[in-house]
Amino acid sequence: MSDSAKSMKQTAAGEDMVGFVDMPEVKTADIFAKAHKFTLAEEAEAAGIYPYFKAIEAQYGGTVSVDGREMVITGSNDYLGLTQDPRLKEAARKALDSFSTSCTGSRFLTGTLTLHEKLEESLAKFLGKESALTFSAGYLGCLSVVSALAGRRDIIYYDRENHASLYDGARLSFATLRKYEHSDLESLEQALRKDLDKPGGRMIVTDGIFSMSGHIAKLPGLLEIAKRYNARLVVDDAHSTGVLGENGRGTSDHYGLTEQVDLIVGTFSKSFASVGGFLAGDRKIVHYVKNHARPFIFTAALPAMQVATTLKALEIMETEPEHQARLWQNVDILQQGLKNLGFDTLGSESPIVPVLIGPEILTGMFWKGLWEEGVFTTPAISPSVPAGRAIIRTSVNANHTPEQLDRLLDAFESVGKQLDVIS
Ligand SMILES: Cc1ncc(COP(=O)(O)O)c(C=O)c1O
Repeated sequence: MSDSAKSMKQTAAGEDMVGFVDMPEVKTADIFAKAHKFTLAEEAEAAGIYPYFKAIEAQYGGTVSVDGREMVITGSNDYLGLTQDPRLKEAARKALDSFSTSCTGSRFLTGTLTLHEKLEESLAKFLGKESALTFSAGYLGCLSVVSALAGRRDIIYYDRENHASLYDGARLSFATLRKYEHSDLESLEQALRKDLDKPGGRMIVTDGIFSMSGHIAKLPGLLEIAKRYNARLVVDDAHSTGVLGENGRGTSDHYGLTEQVDLIVGTFSKSFASVGGFLAGDRKIVHYVKNHARPFIFTAALPAMQVATTLKALEIMETEPEHQARLWQNVDILQQGLKNLGFDTLGSESPIVPVLIGPEILTGMFWKGLWEEGVFTTPAISPSVPAGRAIIRTSVNANHTPEQLDRLLDAFESVGKQLDVIS
């Protein structure tokens, strides 16, 4: 019997069926079983405490409409409030007319537009770096930078609180990952010292502003350690561009360390009121990433509308510092207001202001109370934060009015007292 004949058998109707005649008994698990067993979200939904995927009908800046109800929104990342700026909308419309709806291809092949190059030049200049590269998402930028530059023999050192996109980049890189305690320079140095006799290069990677705690990375200390151990320093400025530094140039500029920080990565999905990501650094390094990063090469390019929106937002950041100033006024009101009410805001230093609630169920109840008061918030539970340390993650933007912030604080006070989180 030939091999091909062996691998066929006949059905009752006499049709050929592909398969092995001497089939062993199949004992493997159903790969979908975990999905069938996953009921937690449905149970929370039924109990009215599932806070995710809430559909917004319209956005107005500091408020949104949900189920026909106007709600104050906190927790979005539109720090400068530019999603509502008519100039950004107009820029997107013009780009749509000139370049059409999609690039339908990778930057590597048919997807590079003159507009991408213009944005990259402007961004490099703004950030004080030689060169820049844009990605279709900040997530893809983080994956690209880590996985293109770190390989099997290298060791990468992460602040424990780094964003998930950096962790996923580490997996893709096959490099050895070491976590150091959050913002703990001693813990980092200990880890580096332990590896002194190991081969390969070293890269320290940190968020600029941490997305859950709102802390600012201690760049001066990190840089000192990086130099001592011949490591490169990469800063993820997703939450810092537009927020920290002169005209929003980010964490490195905030500390006056732009030249020394090796690479800055970031996103257009927050202060730039668009979508996409970026890398800025020395020309040779950016060029290497451009020619090696799989999450950059094997995906379609950022559409022209988003590029044009980002370019317009960048122009506004450079010329209108008043948005950043208004943002920081609101940061002050929110941080002080929550602290005065007696909430633990975990030492936030930025527009991200976590409110520690603790137990997950209580956090769900807290979220629901706020929702009923007309305040849209997003809780963060394990694994985004340590188990039993759940938070309501609040944040402000430049467009929140004093009345909206009052509504927000009143709701926190009322729910906090009802649930005995504050007295
Ligand atoms: C610190 C950090 N890095 C990267 C990203 C990814 O950005 P994007 O939304 O553009 O994919 C985010 C987004 O949440 C972030 O908070």
